[in-house]
Amino acid sequence: MDDWVEIEVRVPVAAQEAVMAWFMDRGATGVKEDYPGLYPGDGPVVSGDPSEWGGEPPQNLGPDVILTAWLPPPATPQGEAEALMMYLHELEAVVLGAGRAPVEAVWLPQQDWNSAWKASWEPLPVGRHLIVCPSWQEPPEAPGRTVLRLDPGMAFGTGTHFTTGSCLEFVEEVVEAAKVPPTVLDVGTGSGILAIAALLLGAKSAMGIDVDADAVQEARENAERNEVDARFSATAQPLSGREGLFDLVLANIIAQTILHLADPIAASVAPGGALVTSGVLKCHQDEVAKALTARGLNPVEARTDGTWVTTLWRRPA
Ligand SMILES: C[S@@+](CC[C@H](N)C(=O)[O-])C[C@H]1O[C@@H](n2cnc3c(N)ncnc32)[C@H](O)[C@@H]1O
Repeated sequence: MDDWVEIEVRVPVAAQEAVMAWFMDRGATGVKEDYPGLYPGDGPVVSGDPSEWGGEPPQNLGPDVILTAWLPPPATPQGEAEALMMYLHELEAVVLGAGRAPVEAVWLPQQDWNSAWKASWEPLPVGRHLIVCPSWQEPPEAPGRTVLRLDPGMAFGTGTHFTTGSCLEFVEEVVEAAKVPPTVLDVGTGSGILAIAALLLGAKSAMGIDVDADAVQEARENAERNEVDARFSATAQPLSGREGLFDLVLANIIAQTILHLADPIAASVAPGGALVTSGVLKCHQDEVAKALTARGLNPVEARTDGTWVTTLWRRPA
């Protein structure tokens, strides 16, 4: 199995969001932030959003933040370091000091990343009726909640990131309010978590699409794990050119990709159907809204953690 690249950079705090978005754009499945006082006494924590490690993280009072991301093959340490340095030079025009940020990139054996990360993930109640549970743990007692068993492998989507968690809440609300079991399209399915949640909550069928063939495989295996595979299909074929209408379309992918796919995403939403967009940084929300309203979708509700925005849209019947 090919190794991943671990890349670390210390940037001014003002550059944090831009650099994190750049990492996600390059295909990172997680970005760790670190600064003095963030993990007191705990030693290093691998992967994801610090808020996942219990409670609100302490505030960063320093001028810099250290960001670490993991990039999948075919990334190479040299290639990623050069690309990031070029980006940081461009960013210097907006954030003073970004262009001088020190970058380090190394090969990371995939297994190390995975096991360290797995050890830190606990079952997570989401919305009113779901609990997402790592497949290697006994599901906890959770009366009234449906257990979603998941092993995301190297794919994105555990429910702990705001973008996924907030999508899951909308999925629950839309599926439970539907008069007939809805059909679902999950663009950027990752681990398959959103599609599988929809199926467990009563959706009729779900199709997951992802550019990453490994994610497609993980999504299929997760569907089997949850015994919804008969109603789930997954493909790495692109969305563009695909025909079909769905009652619920999910797109937790970054703003740039949503804008790029605005035509096929919007065209997939059936009359009276719903769309959930996520992975959109606050600064990109207006642009996404403009693109989607121009394609006949009306915003119904938006939720944010201050950084990311997740939006429910409806196409009039
Ligand atoms: C942020 S993850 C979302 C995973 C999961 N749906 C969730 O909500 O946690 C975005 C996923 O979109 C995939 N992706 C990126 N660009 C894509 C594209 N143009 N078409 C389909 N999938 C794409 C990535 O490989 C990644 O698995």
